[in-house]
Amino acid sequence: MSRFSRSLIAWQRRAGRRDLPWQGTRDAYRIWLSEIMLQQTQVATVVPYYERFVARYPDVESLARASQDDVLRLWSGLGYYARARNLHRAARVVARDCGGRFPDTLEGLVQLPGVGRSTAGAIAAFAFGRRAPILDGNVKRLLARCFGVEGYPGQAQVAARLWALAESLLPRRAIETYTQALMDLGATVCTRARPECARCPLDAQCVALRDARVPSLPAPRPRKRLPLRSETWLVASQGRRVLLERRPAEGLWGGLWAFPRLAADGRTAAAVGRTFGKKPSQWVRAAPFEHGFTHFRLRVQPLECDFAVLPAGRPAGTRWMSFAQALRTAQPAPVTRLLRRLLSARSARPARPARPRAARAVRRRRPSRAAPA
Ligand code: ADE
Repeated sequence: MSRFSRSLIAWQRRAGRRDLPWQGTRDAYRIWLSEIMLQQTQVATVVPYYERFVARYPDVESLARASQDDVLRLWSGLGYYARARNLHRAARVVARDCGGRFPDTLEGLVQLPGVGRSTAGAIAAFAFGRRAPILDGNVKRLLARCFGVEGYPGQAQVAARLWALAESLLPRRAIETYTQALMDLGATVCTRARPECARCPLDAQCVALRDARVPSLPAPRPRKRLPLRSETWLVASQGRRVLLERRPAEGLWGGLWAFPRLAADGRTAAAVGRTFGKKPSQWVRAAPFEHGFTHFRLRVQPLECDFAVLPAGRPAGTRWMSFAQALRTAQPAPVTRLLRRLLSARSARPARPARPRAARAVRRRRPSRAAPA
């Protein structure tokens, strides 16, 4: 066994995490579920979601039978919703095509929607004891430092080098302990910022530590400003109701509930009034904000329209619902923030004194300069 894997396994037995809720089982369903949730999300965030999920869907059949809406609702807040949609699809594939049993090989596992090479490696190791490499972001960093691998790991050649390294280092026994050690050391000691090299079991063999290059390895992504997309959201309310629409199943925030987007020519009080058959009694351009996706930034201009009475018309595909109902739907984080802000502004607002009809004409406020929602 290499010095690298020996040191890692010994460290894991001494200092690694052993009480995570998905440990101590060989149930491929639970391991798969945890690995999908742990993609791009930290352990502390995942734990309560994982526990709620297995309580509601204890096995792959129950998840396969669930509605997508239910799955997305339980996922709501974890982000990266494509994971939830793929999870649901994969459960259906396993239940329908594999007789409810997860494939037990790397090749079989990577066929499942949402299961990439590293996730397949983790499932193969934890559920089936297979000698399979993993290479998530934490492990890339750890290997790049320990072996002094230059270049940005998002580049194909650098990634190929790291995969070859990960493969060559696999121990012949204790693969579960070794795999968990890589994850735990990457997440808790060999961290991106302020790594704790004094506590590291690999300190005597780490090239980056020897050469004082820990802060510069791995090389960061070459800087490129992400493109900016802009949208206007119609945030319509009436009394204690708001208007939401369900996004189409495919695409950005697919299947989630969100505020309807306004076309460029629908951004005036008159155009909004034509859609609803009634002009809003208040019409406010709230503070715009930005939301970051992996490949672009989204700039959102919320257009808050308050109606005194429920209008007869509404945009196709939208639904009026109470704030409480709205907050219970599966929704992207910026929608939750807007809903909460609107609700708290409403609760703080004193009851409106009755005003003569003429004074209730459309009123435009100046754009707010408040901090982003
Ligand atoms: N990150 C990815 N998979 C993990 C696991 N099984 N335990 C802890 N962190 C992880």
